[in-house]
Amino acid sequence: MTLALKNHWDSAYEANDISKLGWYEEFPEPSLQLIQNCDLSKNARVLNVGVGTSTLIDELVNQGYKNIIASDISGTAIDKLRTRLGSKKDTIEWIIDDITNPTHLSKIEPVDLWHDRAVLHFFTKKKEQNAYFSLLKKLVKLNGYVLIATFNKDGATMCSGLPVHRYDKDMLLEKLGVNFKLIKYFNFTYSMPSGDTRPYIYALFKRTS
Ligand SMILES: C[S@@+](CC[C@H](N)C(=O)[O-])C[C@H]1O[C@@H](n2cnc3c(N)ncnc32)[C@H](O)[C@@H]1O
Repeated sequence: MTLALKNHWDSAYEANDISKLGWYEEFPEPSLQLIQNCDLSKNARVLNVGVGTSTLIDELVNQGYKNIIASDISGTAIDKLRTRLGSKKDTIEWIIDDITNPTHLSKIEPVDLWHDRAVLHFFTKKKEQNAYFSLLKKLVKLNGYVLIATFNKDGATMCSGLPVHRYDKDMLLEKLGVNFKLIKYFNFTYSMPSGDTRPYIYALFKRTS
């Protein structure tokens, strides 16, 4: 795990109230909309990479999902999310790991859904991107889904003080390769707590072979 990166994210979560973070969502509507398209059973294994303190976890627990895996490089984010969830945290598997250099994530059982909102765009180096997609391909089951929400080509070039790499659907498809099919995608303008906006692409893929 890169210590500098872990420290960067720990500090971001220590310094701010969760609801003031530049990526805070009160209700993760676009993710939930796409997850509905997956027709998953409540026993499906749902992996949230770079989960942060995402309210998606609260919603998935409330909807009855029983096999949620929440992972992040930041132990501070995970602690804050666990605290907010209270006793609901016990139904979740927690993994602190670097997704571009995984030691624990690479050993988990395959998953039915890989969910990433606002994580992939931080991997600006080819090596990091390759590691991300290689882990994804190792973990997503046949007929499983990949939901990626990332800054689109009109998006900002920096986030949380870090440079980002922006995507369109074709770039994501190319990274995923021929074993994945695009199910649905849309552009979404996220409004930050500060009032600024950030253009995202939300894309859902299915593993078909
Ligand atoms: C912009 S935040 C988004 C958090 C969350 N997905 C959400 O939508 O609220 C990016 C998250 O990615 C995590 N992250 C960044 N680099 C990571 C890495 N290499 N491995 C795992 N998590 C990482 C950060 O700690 C942070 O929680």
